[in-house]
Amino acid sequence: MRKQIAAANWKMNLSQKEAENLLDQLLASDFNLSENQSAIFAVPAIYIPLAIQKFAGKQHMFVAAQNCHQKTNGAYTGEIAASMYETVGVKHIVLGHSERREYFNESDALLAEKTEAVLAIGSTPIFCCGEPLEIREAGTQNSFVEAQLKNALFQLSAEQIVRVVIAYEPIWAIGTGKTATSAQAQEIHAYIRSVFAAQYGQSIAEQISILYGGSVKAANANEIFSQPDVDGGLVGGASLIATEFAAIINALK
Ligand code: PGA
Repeated sequence: MRKQIAAANWKMNLSQKEAENLLDQLLASDFNLSENQSAIFAVPAIYIPLAIQKFAGKQHMFVAAQNCHQKTNGAYTGEIAASMYETVGVKHIVLGHSERREYFNESDALLAEKTEAVLAIGSTPIFCCGEPLEIREAGTQNSFVEAQLKNALFQLSAEQIVRVVIAYEPIWAIGTGKTATSAQAQEIHAYIRSVFAAQYGQSIAEQISILYGGSVKAANANEIFSQPDVDGGLVGGASLIATEFAAIINALK
């Protein structure tokens, strides 16, 4: 059974006090997550020790990083290696978010390196893909996303690819309040799975969790997550509100 995941992406938000309050409010809920469900919190790097401490002893709840450098160490002022996150207990790393692709010029080739760096230390990449509005309007989203996956991930072995979590996030739905319909999400998630099946075989493709991201909230999480090829969500805005994100965690299949 594929992992079902509710992942929070706090982006560059919240003061330390606000971060602590949000974590405390969330921890007041009893999520009762099962073996194949996880709640993952990609908090700003500086709040990672705080979040790790708060989640200590909590089953199926993990702290994640929002990015990492592709090298293991060296003269890269201001950067953090995947292995450094691993040493403090962070084993999930979001890679290739559209904001990083756009504002920090992250290319598919760079993301291939980052993905390999994360896998090399035994951690889990949460690899983001998704098309801009003009591609959706032209109806070429499938081939656009397919190219992102091929260029960044197809050098991986079958043993490696099953350890990658995919987050499909149409850029036109991120932070806009405009969610893809559940039918649109299902359609492209199924397509993404077929792309992996063609390269790695059906049984490998069936094991890959594919999350949907883009204006997921408590009010639409149930419907989106109920789609057969949607294995949870990557959530920005609504992950900053405890009651919203708690409901999204509870919407996992
Ligand atoms: P949003 O962001 O939920 O605010 O649309 C999602 C994301 O960017 O991961």
